Amino acid sequence: MAEIAPSILAADFGNLQRDVELLNASAADYIHVDIMDGVFVPNISFGIPVCEAIHKHAKKPLDVHLMIEKPERYFEAFKKAGAWGITMHYEACTHLHRNIENLKELGLSAGVALNPHTPVELLTDVLGDVSLVLIMSVNPGFGGQKFIDNTYKKIARLHSLREKFGYSFKIEVDGGVNLDNAPLLVREGVDILVAGSFVFSSSDPKGIIEQLKVAS
Ligand code: DX5
Ligand code: ZN
Repeated sequence: MAEIAPSILAADFGNLQRDVELLNASAADYIHVDIMDGVFVPNISFGIPVCEAIHKHAKKPLDVHLMIEKPERYFEAFKKAGAWGITMHYEACTHLHRNIENLKELGLSAGVALNPHTPVELLTDVLGDVSLVLIMSVNPGFGGQKFIDNTYKKIARLHSLREKFGYSFKIEVDGGVNLDNAPLLVREGVDILVAGSFVFSSSDPKGIIEQLKVAS
């Protein structure tokens, strides 16, 4: 059974407290918090004060996904804003290893995300250092996009690297996740499913979270 990280990006921002409380009362394991800077990705979501506001009401760990250039500038700020873990993009870091070490020194779960075009093999030399690898199954920047099918093969390759070297990082997948692809993703080795629009566009988000857990 996979862990579920509903993405708050798809929530009703006019009723953020209500939607965080809905997730508190659900089978969700984390709350996925998408931060976009309008530079690394062609969209701006929200920033540190909103993360703090989410944290104020959240009873689940905040899984913060930084889609920003030079993410190391904001590690401490997001820790103060309540992050449990931070995932930065491989493509946004010049000194990825240093950044991973910095996150660990801050006592945060250290994650690295890969865009759809970035091969998992590029992480070979840091896979022993990270707690989580996030595979983007859409191009980051927007919720509600179509799942990219090449993701299955990519996850299988990452999973076999983990087996081969005995690493302990979790594999998370993000973008276009629904009840059709969730079981297939878990079969390839996914531990954490992120789902935004599939959860919040439903009339019964709690039920969908439960179904995603059970289906996988
Ligand atoms: C995309 C974000 C995702 C997004 C997922 O850039 O990183 O976390 O919120 O949303 P859905 O599930 O709607 O694709
Ligand atoms: Zn995300």
